Amino acid sequence: MDIISTRSMSKDFLEDIIKSAKKYDSDKDFTSVLKGKILATLFFEPSTRTQFSFQTAMQRLGGKCVGFSSTEGTSVKKGETLMDTIRTISSYVDCIAMRHPKEGAAKLATEVSGVPIVNGGDGSHDHPTQTLLDLYTIRKGLGNFDGLNIGICGDLRYGRTGRPLSIALSNWDVKLHYISPPQLSMDKGTIRHLKDKKIAVKEVMKIEDVIKELDVLYMTRIQRERFPTEEEYLKFKGVYVVDPAMMAKAKERFILMHPLPRIDGITLEVDDDPRAKYFEQARNGVPARMAVLHKAITE
Ligand code: NCD
Repeated sequence: MDIISTRSMSKDFLEDIIKSAKKYDSDKDFTSVLKGKILATLFFEPSTRTQFSFQTAMQRLGGKCVGFSSTEGTSVKKGETLMDTIRTISSYVDCIAMRHPKEGAAKLATEVSGVPIVNGGDGSHDHPTQTLLDLYTIRKGLGNFDGLNIGICGDLRYGRTGRPLSIALSNWDVKLHYISPPQLSMDKGTIRHLKDKKIAVKEVMKIEDVIKELDVLYMTRIQRERFPTEEEYLKFKGVYVVDPAMMAKAKERFILMHPLPRIDGITLEVDDDPRAKYFEQARNGVPARMAVLHKAITE
């Protein structure tokens, strides 16, 4: 099956992935699960965690990987279309995990691919496997979703992690607190969707306004590469920073998350705080993507 859009994931699907990620989150040998299968990781945009955790996940399941991490050295540089690239590679492998700067690219790829497509990020739009590992991290850290106050902070406009995470969380009884400058706020369509699902949404400009109430603070990076000009980006660079003084205001039972890279959003001193979960979150990408690959390739 293709894994393209967070909106199309049911609560049962999400629970199923979380359960499967928990099973794979161990040192046991799972190399018979996808033995003999090949995954192509096609990254038309930079990636560290997503690309490497997909490749690690595939190998932990006994499969093998091929792929590229930049279009340099491929026929894309000669002007080959996305459609022809996907059509060709899908005739070599059993599954494609791809990241592309254009919104909708993964969906488009499914039209010509003979094998399942997994969306590893399409422009500012969606990043479903990030959402799955984020859900797994919250479940692992706090036990459940119902009743949680979840803050999502930073570039909610150009970022592709806050939107799908909100949509997935709307399957439970959560309260969402969006923290952003008005120019980088969550789009109205998403807020309407959340309100239709009876989710309480509050929008503020400062972390200080809500930090005491939060069970989770999910920081996001100001998406430099998606601003129309560098000058626009510089207006928002460094606008949110979590440091030990900010952590001192948060609850004891609280987790700080970030999809990474953090750039200047969280200071290094915060890393030693046991509530800082972003590196564990990145590590959770492996069992979560093992669950995803197993589902994509076998169902
Ligand atoms: C995120 C992405 O690519 O959207 N990174 C990731 O996948 N862990 C976040 C970001 O780049 O800011």
